[in-house]
This record gives sequence, C-alpha cells and structure tokens, in this order.
Amino acid sequence: MATNRTFTMLKPDSVEKGYIGAILEKINAAGFRIAAMKMTQMTVSDAKAFYAVHSERPFYGELVEFMSSGPIVAAILEKNNAVEDFRVLIGATNPADAAEGTIRKLFASSMGENAVHGSDSDENAAIEGAFHFSGREIF
Ligand code: RTP
Ligand code: MG
Repeated sequence: MATNRTFTMLKPDSVEKGYIGAILEKINAAGFRIAAMKMTQMTVSDAKAFYAVHSERPFYGELVEFMSSGPIVAAILEKNNAVEDFRVLIGATNPADAAEGTIRKLFASSMGENAVHGSDSDENAAIEGAFHFSGREIF
C-alpha cells in the first residue's frame, strides 16, 4: 500500500544555480504539501551513510563527493501516492532521458548533477526523512 510521504533533496547543483524557488514552484504546482524543509550540507560521512545502498557501485565515490560539495535543501513532501508521483515529476535519472516538463529535464545538467533526489520506496522515504529531520521538525 502506498503511503503519502516522500523525501527529496534539491542537490548542490540546484542550490548553486539559484533554482530553489523554481523547483519548489513545480513541487507545489504538482500538489505536494511541504511537511518538513531545511537548507543543510552533508559531510562526506553523512553522504556515505545516506547513499550506503550504492556503496558497491562505480559511481559511489563521485556521488558522495558531489552530494557533500555544497548546501542542499532537504524536504519531506506529502501527497497521495507521493513516492511514485514524485518520481514521475522529477523524471529519469539521466536528464537526457527525462520526459518534457520534468524537473530533471528542466533543471539538471548531467547524470551526476541531476538537480533532485526522490525516494524510491515508502520504506526508504521514511528512512531518508528520519536521516535529516527530528520529529519536531516534521509538521
Ligand atoms: P536519486 O536516488 O538521487 O533520486 O536518483 P535515482 O533514484 O534516479 O538514481 P539512483 O540509481 O538511485 O542513483 C543515485 C544517484 O547516483 C548518480 N548516478 N550516477 N554515473 C552513473 O552511472 C550514475 N548512476 C547514478 C545520480 O546522481 C543518481 O541520481
Ligand atoms: Mg535513487
């Protein structure tokens, strides 16, 4: 059964390029309610832990380096069918393959610097949200 929350990060490329407002507008327009939000920066060890599931993948080192390279905006988003609907809104991992109108098509520049993260399951949405937010930061 789908739960109603997902977790996102506006990645360092989005923050650096000044896309926070434009991306949040797309998220709001798609009907997501913001349940938690903060600007923060992951340390190298934070990023290693957050992406531990990818630790055996060839791109892990690059991913950890990039995700800890600058500030991000972390958020918990609420909507019916949130995980799946948010993955549709952000588009394919590689922006070259992302559908027209998706956040990655509009704002991402490469497979590595692809603008946003979106949880891939309800279970991971809960784990990732708890990684960044305490109970009293979630509304
Ligand atoms: P995300 O977790 O950030 O929402 O992205 P995703 O589900 O679409 O992709 P995933 O397979 O979970 O990969 C996590 C991030 O690692 C980078 N990546 N690079 N060079 C590569 O082949 C490669 N593959 C993945 C991307 O930044 C991707 O978002
Ligand atoms: Mg993923």
